[in-house]
Amino acid sequence: MILVTGGAGFIGANFVLDWLACGDEPVVNLDKLTYAGNLHNLKGLQGDARHVFVQGDIGDGALVHRLLAEHQPRAIVNFAAESHVDRSIHGPADFIQTNVVGTFHLLEAARQYWQDLPAERKAAFRFLHVSTDEVYGTLTADAPAFTEAHCYEPNSPYSASKAASDHLVRAWHHTYGLPVLTTNCSNNYGPFHFPEKLIPLMIVNALAGKALPVYGDGMQVRDWLYVKDHCSAIRRVLEAGRLGETYNVGGWNEKANLDIVHTVCALLDELRPRADGQSYKTQITHVKDRPGHDRRYAIDARKIERELGWKPAETFDTGIRKTVQWYLENSEWVAGVQSGAYREWVQTQYANV
Ligand code: NAD
Ligand code: DAU
Repeated sequence: MILVTGGAGFIGANFVLDWLACGDEPVVNLDKLTYAGNLHNLKGLQGDARHVFVQGDIGDGALVHRLLAEHQPRAIVNFAAESHVDRSIHGPADFIQTNVVGTFHLLEAARQYWQDLPAERKAAFRFLHVSTDEVYGTLTADAPAFTEAHCYEPNSPYSASKAASDHLVRAWHHTYGLPVLTTNCSNNYGPFHFPEKLIPLMIVNALAGKALPVYGDGMQVRDWLYVKDHCSAIRRVLEAGRLGETYNVGGWNEKANLDIVHTVCALLDELRPRADGQSYKTQITHVKDRPGHDRRYAIDARKIERELGWKPAETFDTGIRKTVQWYLENSEWVAGVQSGAYREWVQTQYANV
């Protein structure tokens, strides 16, 4: 049994689905179901006894304590977080509460549980913290990609809160010996990505005939990784990562935002052409830039490849095509998210949450 937090969100849900597709070890999934948590993402697991969903907060120490005592997991994989940079600029409080204070409470509950485990299970226990490349700050155009040794220079309330959580995780290992692992991944994309983030927003706005808002000049660079490759990296780190280490995860896929938007438009032009025969690119609109906008992220993923033999399975071309196709085939999921109906799913489908 493993405990996954934030497993109803974008990456967490993909992780839980892939985990149970790859094996039979059960998952307890603790998720607060904020606006970003969507149980529709886990619809395929309805009635599957290997998946126990619990609605709750990682900051609720008593609840986490009870779950650990009851389910006796061999590992915790922590995805739970507020994750959207723009939201962190408009309202940072939730980011401090969940990403910093919540991680603290989760670490404390994990430490108490781990301390009392019998020797063999104590040695095998893992706390894997899922973090981001944004903690390293921004890169100039010709600077080398972020290695694990890069200094922390977070620039947004989101990345500062994630950096703080990484430091807590590190300290709980250094001081108490908690067996932790940290992953710092680049931008993910793929199924179940909430349409507030660049790629899904562009797909759903394009199809709805709306503007495609590109911040500033659109030449900011992100390093894109298909979400299922991130999930396979986490499984690999959990399996064989060295305790107390951090592993950068990325796909060597640096792209300017404008190129991403052009690629999405070209795929939609091919797969779902506009009725008037014009390209979706005509919907692109440059808007005001994000305050404090990081110019470039790039991940040096050599350590995880060298030590753990991990490599992404998808190229950007294969991953983005799958992603656009997924959104075209899952218009019901998109409509549920846009109307807010996905939030009623809890009441109608899950009696135990
Ligand atoms: P998301 O916003 O889609 O999902 C977050 C999930 O956490 C949601 O289901 C939400 O309900 C849950 N949650 C929020 N606060 C909670 C709390 N207090 N207690 C329990 N659950 C809570 O985020 P995501 O994009 O899936 O990101 C998951 C993790 O991966 C985050 O820690 C994020 O920082 C990290 N990450 C994301 C990316 C990316 O590109 N999306 C890249 C690198 C790292
Ligand atoms: O790098 C990893 C991070 O990637 C994760 O830690 C975060 O949780 C995740 O949200 C993501 O952060 P970004 O800020 O890079 O992602 P976002 O999709 O919000 O934006 C990607 C780029 O696109 C960024 O340069 C801002 C730009 N953008 C975004 C939106 C939503 C636009 O130009 N227009 C938009 O409408």
